[in-house]
Amino acid sequence: MAAGRGWLSRALVRSALVLAVLGACSCSPWGQDDVDRLREWQERQDERLRAQQRGLEERQRLHDDLMLERHFLQSDLQLHRERQQDDHQWQRDERLNDHQRLRDDLLQERQVEQSDRQLHRQTLQDQGIDERQQLRDELERDREGETEDLRRQREQLRDQTRRDRERTDREREHEQNRREREQHRRQQEREREQQRVERERDLRLQRRRWRRAADNATAEDKAEAKAEAPAVKSYEGAQLWRVQVSEGDVANLQRVEDDGVAQIWYSNATVWDLMVNSENQPHVSKLLADNKLAYTVVIPDMQRAILDENPALSDDELELTGRKGHRMTWQHYHRAADMHGWLDYLAKTYPSVCETLVIGNSVEGRPLKVLHIKGKPGSPAMWVDGGIHAREWITSASVSYMINELVENRDAHSAWVDAVDLYVLPLANPDGYEFSHAGDRMWRKNRRRGGGCDGIDLNRNFGYKWGGKGAGPQPCQEIYRGSAPFSEPETSAIQSFVLARKASLKSYLSFHSYGQYVLYPWGYDRFVPPDHQDLQRVGTKMANAMRASSGLSYTVGSSAALLYPASGGSDDWAKGQAGLKYAFTVELRDTGRHGFVLPSSHILSSGKEVLAAVRTLAQEVAQL
Ligand SMILES: *[C@@H]1O[C@H](CO)[C@@H](O)[C@H](O)[C@H]1NC(C)=O
Ligand SMILES: *[C@@H]1O[C@H](CO)[C@@H](O)[C@H](O)[C@H]1NC(C)=O
Repeated sequence: MAAGRGWLSRALVRSALVLAVLGACSCSPWGQDDVDRLREWQERQDERLRAQQRGLEERQRLHDDLMLERHFLQSDLQLHRERQQDDHQWQRDERLNDHQRLRDDLLQERQVEQSDRQLHRQTLQDQGIDERQQLRDELERDREGETEDLRRQREQLRDQTRRDRERTDREREHEQNRREREQHRRQQEREREQQRVERERDLRLQRRRWRRAADNATAEDKAEAKAEAPAVKSYEGAQLWRVQVSEGDVANLQRVEDDGVAQIWYSNATVWDLMVNSENQPHVSKLLADNKLAYTVVIPDMQRAILDENPALSDDELELTGRKGHRMTWQHYHRAADMHGWLDYLAKTYPSVCETLVIGNSVEGRPLKVLHIKGKPGSPAMWVDGGIHAREWITSASVSYMINELVENRDAHSAWVDAVDLYVLPLANPDGYEFSHAGDRMWRKNRRRGGGCDGIDLNRNFGYKWGGKGAGPQPCQEIYRGSAPFSEPETSAIQSFVLARKASLKSYLSFHSYGQYVLYPWGYDRFVPPDHQDLQRVGTKMANAMRASSGLSYTVGSSAALLYPASGGSDDWAKGQAGLKYAFTVELRDTGRHGFVLPSSHILSSGKEVLAAVRTLAQEVAQL
């Protein structure tokens, strides 16, 4: 087509050229007619050419239409073919499905048939078995009928002999029981006798131990030796009772101690532990019944518990400990002389680490010996004491363990020990402590004589809110507050020492037992100091540290609120009067299983708790 058009345009250009030449040469020799003819021809020629061109264009259009038509036809055809294919596919699928269905149906039918056949066979079998069984049963019945008579006769004979045998058995059993009861009674008697002998032997051993310990060395020992060996009070037959109480019962119960019929070992809002001597048991039992108070016996034999609490050192142990330069073991509850001798030994052996300070003397003239474990110069100071209540032996032993660890093993603890000055008094009531070993295991107070009854409760004798709630005015009371605040040399020595170091002392930590509490002021009543949140926070940290050490849990709170109001306590005074920021009383283990007669096997683990508590408090104090 392009070639055709090219040719056409070339022809038009050529005729135009001819006309132009003719026009330009009007001067030519050709006549007018020739020119006109030529022009006519030319026009015809042009006309023909145009017609030719139109024809060509027409053909072109036709061609294009045709092409389009063919394209449509082709795509229609394609579509048609595809649709046909789809139809075929669908039909094939249908057929396949039909086949599948047919096969499934056939299979099912065959299965049903099979199971029918099986069932049939089973039924046939069962019938056979039943028939055979029936036959057998009939045979059996026949045979039984024959033997029935024989059997009846035999059974009659057997019954007769059984009855005879039973009668003789019963007679024999009766005789046996009687003999056993007799044996048991004799056995019990023997055991009781043995226990009595053991107890006497233990007591003798204990006395011999004291005498032997007193034979050796220090001036203190000699003083002990000179002192009349007191008659040891026996707790034969005494028991520890746990009474369940509610708020209103408390007044009634407090009376039992004031009347001297029972000793209150422990009390909180729901539980009172009473130690009752055997002769008072009927009376107290009736009193509790009258008040509709239930109780359980926790320690059934107090004297036995006392003897088991602190097993005697063997001669080997005694010799071994003698070679160390002191007698402390942390396996036993030691006497005051052992503890004081050991404190001197530490000061002599580690003079750069610690020193002993005698801050006063007890009523009976024993030294109040503080061990100062030195921190870096200018460090904040802490006060720690134990044993202010004589019978709470675990406190002095645990505090001693802590001292030993910090002095003998200082490098392991230097991260925090360097940052504080520690003043530790493990035996705050040495007279009472000695008396609780040698005279009366349950002694609580100091050993002030006179006034009808001996002793003053040192933890009611401190001079802040002295003489308030929970402190007694009568000398015979276990919680006797004394004649005046700081009337006792033990409390007044602590007072002077603390006040003299008021500027550097930041904490006051006093260990008691039992109940597992971390207590902070106030004790005199159910109020708390303004910074009680700090005390609660630090107390909780201490409790957590103790639990991490031993697994035992400690309850944290203010003492009057958690237990009962008690005025004249050391922590109230340290906080309220001396102005020490952190004042705590920690009640060590346990929660009543052994109470004060906690076996000496607890010392190590309890000592580690004390170490954890002191470390925690020291870290807080170092940040003040
Ligand atoms: C007392 O000391 C002597 C030697 O001075 C020693 O043989 C004895 O075992 C010691 N006794 C005790 C109980 O320490
Ligand atoms: C009282 O003490 C007992 C024994 O430790 C304890 O189980 C009980 O939860 C305490 N009661 C209260 C109210 O703290």
